[in-house]
Amino acid sequence: MVGKKTIVTGGDSGIGRAAAVMFALEGADVAIVYLPEEQVDADKVKAMIETAGRQCLLFPQDIRDEAGCKRVIESVVQAWGRIDVLVNNASVMYSIPDIADVTTEQFDRTMKTNVYGTFWLTKAAVPHIPKGGSIIVTASQVAYAGPPMLLDYSMTKGAQVAMVRVLSNQLLSKGIRVNAVCPGPVWTPLQPAAMDSSQMKEWHSSPAPIGRIGQPSELGPAYVFLASADGSFISGQSIHVNGGAIVSG
Ligand SMILES: NC(=O)c1ccc[n+]([C@@H]2O[C@H](COP(=O)([O-])OP(=O)(O)OC[C@H]3O[C@@H](n4cnc5c(N)ncnc54)[C@H](O)[C@@H]3O)[C@@H](O)[C@H]2O)c1
Repeated sequence: MVGKKTIVTGGDSGIGRAAAVMFALEGADVAIVYLPEEQVDADKVKAMIETAGRQCLLFPQDIRDEAGCKRVIESVVQAWGRIDVLVNNASVMYSIPDIADVTTEQFDRTMKTNVYGTFWLTKAAVPHIPKGGSIIVTASQVAYAGPPMLLDYSMTKGAQVAMVRVLSNQLLSKGIRVNAVCPGPVWTPLQPAAMDSSQMKEWHSSPAPIGRIGQPSELGPAYVFLASADGSFISGQSIHVNGGAIVSG
C-alpha cells in the first residue's frame, strides 16, 4: 500500500481507527472524516499516522451534509491528486426493541449517516479513483442476522451490502473493486452509545461463537487485504470478520 492515498470515514474511533492506522503502517497516507465533537480522538489518530511516517488529513465533517461530503473529496483531491481507497465506515446505531418506538427522527439520522453519507462520498469520489483503486464499506453481520433490537440500523447495513454488489458490477470495467467488511460484535464506543446497561450486559453475555467479543485491531487487516494488491481478484464480496457466525452471503 506504499504511497496509496486513502480516506477512512469514522477513522477517529474503533474499527475505522484500526483501518486508518494499519493503512499508515503499510505505507499509505490517510484522510479521516469524523464528527467535529470527536476532534480529540482524531488528533490522536493523526499523531499515530504521522509516527508511522505518513501524512494525515483531518476532516471534521458531518457526512449527513451532501455539500460537506463533496468538499471533503475535493480537498483530498486538491492535496493528493487522487483517491486510491475510500473506506465508508462511519455509522450510527440505535438499539430499540419495538418498531413502535423507532422515531422518524432516529430513522432519518440512521439513514442519512449510514446510507446517504456513504452514497454522497462515493458518488463524489468515483471520478477520482484510478484503475486499481478500491471502495470498501463497513457493513455488518446484522444485515444477515436480523437482530430484533436493530431495525433501522440493520436496514442501512443491508442497503450497504446491496450497494457494494451493484457498484462492483458498475465499476469493475473501470478497474475499481468494491467490497464490504461485515464485523460481528466488536468492542468500540458504538455499542455503549446505543445500549443501556442491561442491554450491554446481555450483549456481553452472548458473544460471538468463538466465545468472546472482538477487538478493532482484529478488523483492520481485512481492510488492508481488500485495499491492497493481495485482494486484486476480490470484488462485490463481503468479508465476515465476526468470530465464527455462519451467515449466508
Ligand atoms: N462495533 C461493532 O460491534 C460493529 C459491528 C458491526 C459493524 N460495525 C460497523 O463498524 C463501523 C465502525 O463502527 P465502530 O464500532 O468502530 O464505531 P465508533 O462509534 O467507534 O466509530 C464510529 C465513528 O463514526 C463517525 N461518525 C458517526 N456519525 C457520523 C457523521 N454523521 N458524520 C461523520 N462521522 C460520523 C464518528 O466520528 C464515530 O467516531 C460502523 O459502520 C458500524 O456500523 C460495528
